[in-house]
Amino acid sequence: MPGLVIIGAQWGDEGKGKITDYLAEDAEMVVRFQGGNNAGHTIIVDGKTFKLQALPSGVLRPDKTAVIGNGVVINMEEMEGEIKRIVDAGGSIANLKISDRAHLIMNYHKKLDGAEEKYRGNKPVGTTKKGIGPAYQDKISRIGFRVGDLYEEDLLKEKISFMIPYKKDLLDMMDAEKCECTNGSLFAKMMRWRDMVDGLVCDTSVLINDALDAGKKIVFEGAQGAMLDIDHGTYPYVTSSSTCAGGACTGAGVAPKKIDSVIGCLKAYTTRVGEGPMVTEMEGEEEEELQRLGGEFGVVTGRGRRCGWLDLVQAEHSTRLSGFTSIAITKIDVLCGYKEVKVCTAYEIDGDVIRHFPASLSKIEAAKPVYKTMKGWEGWNDTAEVVRNGYEALPEEMRSYISLIEESLKVPVDIVSVGPGREETIVRRNPWHS
Ligand code: GDP
Ligand code: IMO
Ligand code: MG
Repeated sequence: MPGLVIIGAQWGDEGKGKITDYLAEDAEMVVRFQGGNNAGHTIIVDGKTFKLQALPSGVLRPDKTAVIGNGVVINMEEMEGEIKRIVDAGGSIANLKISDRAHLIMNYHKKLDGAEEKYRGNKPVGTTKKGIGPAYQDKISRIGFRVGDLYEEDLLKEKISFMIPYKKDLLDMMDAEKCECTNGSLFAKMMRWRDMVDGLVCDTSVLINDALDAGKKIVFEGAQGAMLDIDHGTYPYVTSSSTCAGGACTGAGVAPKKIDSVIGCLKAYTTRVGEGPMVTEMEGEEEEELQRLGGEFGVVTGRGRRCGWLDLVQAEHSTRLSGFTSIAITKIDVLCGYKEVKVCTAYEIDGDVIRHFPASLSKIEAAKPVYKTMKGWEGWNDTAEVVRNGYEALPEEMRSYISLIEESLKVPVDIVSVGPGREETIVRRNPWHS
């Protein structure tokens, strides 16, 4: 059966874009199902770097259909710029489809995102300020604009006349940047958005299900990561969507029985952008060193990513929530800078040893990592030989590290990514053939 979901197993930026692009080679369709342009997925093809935010990674393969599902929130103005960038760089949106049920991120959502962060004072979430939270708030409050509304002019006018005074009052109340638009200017802008996406909008759930029923292979490309999930992440330091595998069903309109494989994309160490707890976080020069070795700077905001050792307590949490059938481990090459590597196998909280990730923020903040130290693969850099000769050509120490992950999570590491390029990927068992 042909439905394969790719999920970030940590706090995002695990290399989902690269793995999606790799597995998309054998697929017909790539579907985004949650998040929006808070995501930044890097894909390197023939030495050329593409950074995708709202667009699915399928746009880099012109023979694939790329779908923005109903669970995504779309900023039309910023997507226009992204489309232009991708097309200029050689990508294609000829086969892009957009759900008529997807919600729109409006300018006032971005302003509110900034204002809410300011209101939180010394406890901001550290959002991307893309308006993601406020757009999902409106969706849940049942007042959001949907892509399909662009085609119903009377309904649109009615919604605009409700929305503008409401959001202006809200922005005033929050002492935020003002919203200058009028009913007429917003309507005109939205008509321009309609022209931009005309011909691309449809009921994508029907499209996806028809393809699955015809036996076509589909990659569901997750954004963010399990620890940023609105229900299961380090709340309130999370994003506003369901980033675990279940989100693919609601966010794309497919039944759970149509999902066969769930790939957990796991970086060989931990990173996090924004605020919130991270038990294995390093400090000072040690952190700067890993940040430098891994090139850990955010795609969307350019912020330095916080860095730390791999956390198997956290990874077990993600594995359970999404039921990974395979792990794709990424950036393991980056750790070749170390004589010894550490892996967190448990937390110590107030004298107790804990192996499950707690819900309580204060417990997570109090947790001390219990580390297992392993011999590293310092100096290894023969990616070319590994690409030629496969898994067995990896250094023994790296294979022991991978075995520890497999034994702890009870999931096979089927893919090992040893560099950012498409070809720098070792497949031990192809998830499409399982
Ligand atoms: P995503 O948001 O999960 O798609 O990940 P990002 O693109 O934000 O961050 C991953 C970064 O690591 C990008 O710069 C990728 O080009 C790079 N990358 C992906 N896989 C590997 C790998 O195996 N090794 C190295 N060295 N870099 C990688
Ligand atoms: P990809 O798909 C890493 C983080 C933000 C912030 C929190 C909430 O590239 O892995 P939001 O703007 O979503 O309300 O911010 O979530 N965040 C990400 N961190 N990778 C991402 O996406 C992220 N998208 C959001 O930094 O801490
Ligand atoms: Mg990213």
